[in-house]
Amino acid sequence: FCGCFSSSGLCPLKVGQTLMRTVRQAVRPAAASRQKYTLPDLNYDYGALEPHICAETMWLHHSFHHATHVKNLNRTMEKFVKAVEMGDETAQEALQTPLIFQGGGHLNHSIFWNSLSPNGGGQPRGVVMDAIMRNFGSFENMKQQMSAASVSWQGPGWSWLGYNRWDGKLEIATCANEDPLQGTTGLIPLLGFDLWKHAYYHQYNNSRSDYIEALWNVINWDVVNDRFMTAERQQIG
Ligand SMILES: [Fe+2]
Repeated sequence: FCGCFSSSGLCPLKVGQTLMRTVRQAVRPAAASRQKYTLPDLNYDYGALEPHICAETMWLHHSFHHATHVKNLNRTMEKFVKAVEMGDETAQEALQTPLIFQGGGHLNHSIFWNSLSPNGGGQPRGVVMDAIMRNFGSFENMKQQMSAASVSWQGPGWSWLGYNRWDGKLEIATCANEDPLQGTTGLIPLLGFDLWKHAYYHQYNNSRSDYIEALWNVINWDVVNDRFMTAERQQIG
């Protein structure tokens, strides 16, 4: 497990159970309709985020890495549906891990693209800024905490600003590989940073800190604010 669930009060066992439930919920509608997952279009050109994220990085990341997750998610889903139809529980169990990896990869990247904008950056706007001030004291403090979590994370994964439905607070979290934030920690994703080397190596070599610093210049705070308002409506208690 990734260690980011502790502040949400979730134990490792529950995390595993939640991940499996996430997969089953994701599989059920697709299994019923045989719908295929598709690579979402970007709302901007590959070169639109330059100089912060170069066109080659965006092209490789979207048209190769994300597209591969989509292709493999559909293949894995087909196998899973067959295993369900055959009543093969061993095969279903064996497919849980690849489903989480490919499904999480598709979900995480879809969230990521929409979090970026050529007109982004600057200070957060709207009610999410009020929440950041309440929970972190200042935007600079929140930015520093998320940057530090991103740079210090070992290996592939994602860092997140998430919403805790149980206490209505914002939290910084990190997840390994392509584990989805909500299925792993219960937090609702508001903003996620891809920490895999494929996200930055072409432009920033091994300097993840330079890449993270650049990302802040292209954050679409309107989208983050919309996600926060939607998440707030799901508060428990
Ligand atoms: Fe990625």
